[in-house]
Amino acid sequence: MGEFAKLEVDGKTYEFPILEGSEGERAIDIGKLREQTGLITLDPAFKNTGSCASAVTFIDGERGILRHRGYSIEELTEKSTFLEVSYLLLYGELPGKTELERWVEEIRYHTMLHEDLKRLYDGFPKAAHAMAVCSAIVSALSTFYPMDLDPIDDDQVRLSTERLIAKLPTITAYSYKHLMGQPFLYPDNRLSYVGNFMRMMFATPCEVYDVDPVVERTLDLLLMLHADHGQNCSTSTVRLVGSSRANVFASISAAINALWGPRHGGANQDVIRMLWAIEKEGLSARQFVDRAKSRDDTSRLMGFGHRVYRNHDPRALIIKSHAHEVLRSLRHTSKLLEIAIDLERIALEDDYFIERKLFPNVDFYSGVIFEALSIPMNLFTALFSMGRLPGWIAQWVEYHSEPGNAIGRPRQLYMGAKHRPYVPIDQR
Ligand code: ACO
Repeated sequence: MGEFAKLEVDGKTYEFPILEGSEGERAIDIGKLREQTGLITLDPAFKNTGSCASAVTFIDGERGILRHRGYSIEELTEKSTFLEVSYLLLYGELPGKTELERWVEEIRYHTMLHEDLKRLYDGFPKAAHAMAVCSAIVSALSTFYPMDLDPIDDDQVRLSTERLIAKLPTITAYSYKHLMGQPFLYPDNRLSYVGNFMRMMFATPCEVYDVDPVVERTLDLLLMLHADHGQNCSTSTVRLVGSSRANVFASISAAINALWGPRHGGANQDVIRMLWAIEKEGLSARQFVDRAKSRDDTSRLMGFGHRVYRNHDPRALIIKSHAHEVLRSLRHTSKLLEIAIDLERIALEDDYFIERKLFPNVDFYSGVIFEALSIPMNLFTALFSMGRLPGWIAQWVEYHSEPGNAIGRPRQLYMGAKHRPYVPIDQR
């Protein structure tokens, strides 16, 4: 006999099942709440609401745990690669040797963009933000593959998945080439996933380009660290858009836009702006931390705080532990890293941040590393979306595999004007 939660309303008692997840998390199943009681729940920003059951990623925010399909992020980033983690997220298991080779081959095969699609870039202003360009081009992919858009056809979804994962680095690199006024390079499929991306970003037809293995491995690590993160804002967007049976390109395009905001993936760009401003204004870490405590939303300590992590963000610890090593290998000295470390130290000793359980999140150190790898700031969040892509698709596919899945459609508590008669314009 399962457990039940009791709810008493107007002298009547209702019982709702308590469900338990595989890691012991408990949830009250209120699926029949409105039908039985006539009431709805109100939970703005979904602080207490689970929107789905998922087998992709487990997060324990109190203990700072992140696992994909049961494997810890620490072990994955130490032993795996981005494409292998993508396979794991998408198909639930680590691939065998042959499966991995086939998967990598499939991704390589689809890296090129249709020539007509490339012409779309000409319509964007040079200074267009990479996130706007990437979301538009990803959305436009649906116009090039109209025969492969059925969200419940496994073969079509598999093909679209491979196309998306293969093409997003090309799409992202071209957004940079457009900004720079440099020619778009065709992918070179002898290179690795990340090596190919780096070449399309940084090479020109005039010079030989050698992929730096330190940069290659570091970018791969950063992509892995971003690969999935449960039901965050952009992932919830993917599921919600997908729930209307919109195709996967449309859903991912929406997710890229959701990620763009500074409270989400856009924070990695704002962290660097913040660190630059501190350097330029000659502020001490203490002065900036004090400013961040004013309740003014615009002066928050960017890269700090997380809805789920209340102890530490394991991704931030991994990035921080690599930061010095990477900078040393690249012979790069970073004033920004020094400021970041100082800010973190002061904030973690400050009662305001301790009481609110605010810790550095993944974005706090990722920008410093992106900068050291010569990734332009305008591209930071686009790199995040390259990393998050397999997670988005895995969650989108999971949504479609749920039996009886319905369109996502929250209710509301109406607080507006009551019914009133229409007033003709000359009487208003
Ligand atoms: N700096 C200063 N104060 C903060 C910060 C911060 N970075 N983050 C939260 N707070 C304060 C809030 O002012 C609030 O204080 P109050 O209780 O006195 O009003 C309290 O901490 C709780 O903050 P909320 O905004 O309610 O927390 P929520 O869980 O809704 O927001 C979020 C989480 C959006 C990440 C927030 O911490 C934030 O804005 N951080 C900075 C932006 C950032 O780094 N975003 C990246 C998130 S990770 C990611 O998406 C990859």
